[in-house]
This record gives sequence, C-alpha cells and structure tokens, in this order.
Amino acid sequence: MSATWIDILLLVAIVAQTQSSVGSIQAPTAFTKGQTIDVHVSNGENILYNKRITEIGASFDSEGSFVCQTPGLYAFTFYGLTAEDSRLWLEMMKTDELIASIFGHTKNDYADSGNAAIVHLNTGDKVYVKAHNNYNHALFGRADQIYTTITGELLFADNIELDVENFYGPVGLLSAILTKHASVSDGLALIYDKSITNIRSACNTTTGTITAPVEGTYLFHFHALAYENTDFWLELFHNENYVISSYGYTEGSYADAGNTAVLHLKKGDIVKTNSRPGRTARLYGASNELYTTFCGALLSPTVKKISGHGTQEVIAFSAGPTQHETFLRFI
Ligand SMILES: *[C@@H]1O[C@H](CO)[C@@H](O)[C@H](O)[C@H]1NC(C)=O
Repeated sequence: MSATWIDILLLVAIVAQTQSSVGSIQAPTAFTKGQTIDVHVSNGENILYNKRITEIGASFDSEGSFVCQTPGLYAFTFYGLTAEDSRLWLEMMKTDELIASIFGHTKNDYADSGNAAIVHLNTGDKVYVKAHNNYNHALFGRADQIYTTITGELLFADNIELDVENFYGPVGLLSAILTKHASVSDGLALIYDKSITNIRSACNTTTGTITAPVEGTYLFHFHALAYENTDFWLELFHNENYVISSYGYTEGSYADAGNTAVLHLKKGDIVKTNSRPGRTARLYGASNELYTTFCGALLSPTVKKISGHGTQEVIAFSAGPTQHETFLRFI
C-alpha cells in the first residue's frame, strides 16, 4: 500500500509532537575563550581571555566569569602556556571554591599545563580562572598562537528527566582530586582522596576507582603534576584493560601532563588510573593545590528497547561502534 495523505499527515503530526515534547531536550550552553596577548599578573587577578571563540547560550559578568543560567552538570577544561622561563599557577574556581589548579614552568623554555573539572552549578554560580594570589605569572599569547584557553559546556540540565530508574538509569558524574603529595608504585591505583562531584557515589575515594552506575558512553579526563625533578607515568585502565597513558617530567621543576578518553562502559565496570608497573609516580598535591585530578561524565546512556510501553516510542540517534547510544524523546 502506498503512502496516502493521511499517512503523511500522521507522520508530520508525530514528528511535530515529538519535537514539541521538549522534556528531554535542553538548550545548549557552551563556550570556548582564548588569550591572544601576553598577560602579566601578580595579585590573584582573574584571567579575562580576550578572544571569544565560541559562545552559545553562555553568560559572563564584567570580570569575565561564566555565570550559570541553567542549573545542571557542567564540564570545564582550561590550559595555559607560560612565557619563556616564566611560571603560571592558575586556579579554576566555582564561586569561592577551588576546583582545579594548574602549574607550569620549564627552565629556559615555555611550559604548558591543563586541567579539567566536572561540577554541578546552580543558577548564579560562577566559574572562572584566576591567578594564584601574590605570585608572578607571565602567560604567552598571540593572535595566531592561542594556548591559554577555557572551555565549558552544560552536560545535563537539572530539569532533564533522565532518571527513569529501571529504564536507562540515572546520570553518573564525578570529579576526584588528590589533595596531598603521593607516591604510587608497582602498578597500584592512584587514590584520589577528595571528590567534589560524586553523583550516585560512582567515585570511591578509598580505592581510587570509578564505577559506572549505568551502561553508556563516558568521557574521562585525568591530569597530574610531578613532584619537583621527578616524573610520573600513569595509565588509565578499564577493568583490567590498559587504555591510555600520561607522562610528565621537567628537569628542575614540576611537570604537568594529562590525557582524555571516551569509553563505553557496562554497569559496574571500573575505571582507574594506575602507576606504571615497576615505576614510582611522585605526585604533587595539597588541599589548596589541586593538580592531580580524575573526572568523568556519562555522555549518553545505552538504551534497551523495552516492551509494554505501547504509547512510548524511542527516537534514537548517535550510534557507537557496537551499541546504540541514545537520547530519548517520548511521544
Ligand atoms: C570503596 O571500596 C571499598 C573496597 O572495595 C569498599 O569496602 C567500600 O565500601 C567502597 N566505598 C564506597 C563508598 O562504595
């Protein structure tokens, strides 16, 4: 039977109704800003980032702070490059709380460092990067050399209903930090002793592991700072399987390094950062110097087709290699 006008009208009506069913559609909030000129600061000033690269639904105050308009879970990353033989010690803040630090210095050269955090924000909360107080910073920037950046994006707005327990589960989110100096040897997991975001208790600060609360595709960032004149070699593991590495060493100073992976996890899968077997990672940490971090977020849950919900229809898009990763809309 060929499609009739009625069929076509019905289809249009279904599509229109789906699109108007906005309970699970969120307006994007995302930004990237960069620094195109040198910056010298010594007194804890905010980094202003003079170039707007992307700004979608993002608001900033007169001091350059991102101001949350949509309560929800956000991911932030930031990077900096020192001027030659200079230092940087920058702090990403959530209103008055330190959430991640970066340090950079290479003798007679330029040093790059970066970090990430995943945090829950309420309306009016601010996220910004400032220089550490009473410390001389020199950052390098040119119009065609933008090393110093900040990026933020809304992952899930609070009003998005993603918590149909038995259907596709809640959102797992975490951000873990090492707050003291640590040596990690013999392939052991690095223990992150503080978590600033720990939804569904995915993050275990006793074992240093993150456990997937639900099957889906996850994003992970890990960063570390080597103790002066020492190195670290960390390896990201998914259960017992090696994924990727990070290595840092700078002669006569502290070295920063990090890495990022997207992984498909089953519920209960474990993700951790181990020291390379046979090596000792010496890491710098303090309660007000949060360089060594591990954060992750569920990007999209895996949705299983369910029966017995005759009036519900799942419209799915975005396919992983072997699984369908979906955002859901109900008719
Ligand atoms: C963390 O892991 C340890 C060891 O497996 C376990 O005993 C403890 O209950 C876990 N903590 C949480 C909060 O799940």
